[in-house]
Amino acid sequence: MSESVLSSEENLERFRPGEVWTDTAGVPINAHGGGILRHGATYYWFGEHKIAGPWGNEAHVGVRVYASEDLVRWRNQGIALAVSADPASEIASGCILERPKVIHNRHTGLFVMWFHLEPPGAGYTGARSGVAVANAPCGPYRYLGSLRPNAGIWPLNADAMLRQMLSAEEADSLAARRFSGGPEADFPADLIQRRDHEGGQMARDMTLFVDEDDIAYQIYSSEENGTLHISQLTKDYLHHEGRYIRVFPGGFNEAPALMKWSGRYFLFTSGCTGWRPNALRLAVADSIWGPWTDMGNPCVGTPQESATTFQSQPTFILPVNEKSGRFIFMADRWAPKNPIDGRYVWLPVDLSDSRPTVRWHKEWTISAS
Ligand code: DGJ
Repeated sequence: MSESVLSSEENLERFRPGEVWTDTAGVPINAHGGGILRHGATYYWFGEHKIAGPWGNEAHVGVRVYASEDLVRWRNQGIALAVSADPASEIASGCILERPKVIHNRHTGLFVMWFHLEPPGAGYTGARSGVAVANAPCGPYRYLGSLRPNAGIWPLNADAMLRQMLSAEEADSLAARRFSGGPEADFPADLIQRRDHEGGQMARDMTLFVDEDDIAYQIYSSEENGTLHISQLTKDYLHHEGRYIRVFPGGFNEAPALMKWSGRYFLFTSGCTGWRPNALRLAVADSIWGPWTDMGNPCVGTPQESATTFQSQPTFILPVNEKSGRFIFMADRWAPKNPIDGRYVWLPVDLSDSRPTVRWHKEWTISAS
């Protein structure tokens, strides 16, 4: 697709946010918490394959991938990364494998997938990042392992006070606490990064972003979900470079999605309310290393729509044409009782004002012009 515009022309395939979206074989698309890679003229949509019923949010199949040239009609390309048949594997069936994102590395030629991984049997306490690679966009991806990022590295934007190991007293105060993953009274926002200095930083909801200079970043909810981290990847995209910042300490942001437009970085996130939707948040910065400024809720709609992000939670911002300002806001409408029935809410990012906004469209199209 070359120059693209958003329009409401009658004769084109339409996006219908929140409705059942079938692939070209007529089967509902199963790619939740997903992200999109554009390679050549083809878009690849990677996401969590969910199953029906109470265990549907665990990974029992893996990461599914679809291909499309027009972003509306998607061909099922199968399982890009399969869960392991070895029950001892970190990615065995029953693990939690969320928000997979794939980027292509020009130097190595490899396709690199990062995702939030919780090895089986420990709920969300693992808070690890998994990585897998493939020679072709649809895989099969080979699992390389998982880690908590940046072990032994202090954040670039931490002052001297934040570059100290915990005192015995501080360590005791944390040892006695269990965190809920959401805002709570007396949250010790500045202790957790220091607690995790040696072993590596927690990493849950995540996305990837490749800048114009090909440098890639992982953005993830860290520090018991209290603080976001933006962390540079190595040139081969397989490791962390050792440069990262903390963003909005104690702000409880998750579901990050990043876009760059007109030289500025825009970071969409949600608050932390589990599978229940909450209000969208937007932040802006002139450098990926900050400072980041809160821009409030970019949703425009009824109070109900803006309080719930149209009943969805962000997962990715797809640049369709950066120069002309065409971006798609991609979000999930979760269905925790029957996760396979989770829906996709894709809406155009409106850049007609100086501040990006997202409005509801019952249906809309992209047309090539
Ligand atoms: C919200 C996250 O955004 C999802 O990816 C998932 O981790 C749920 N929380 C789990 O409650």
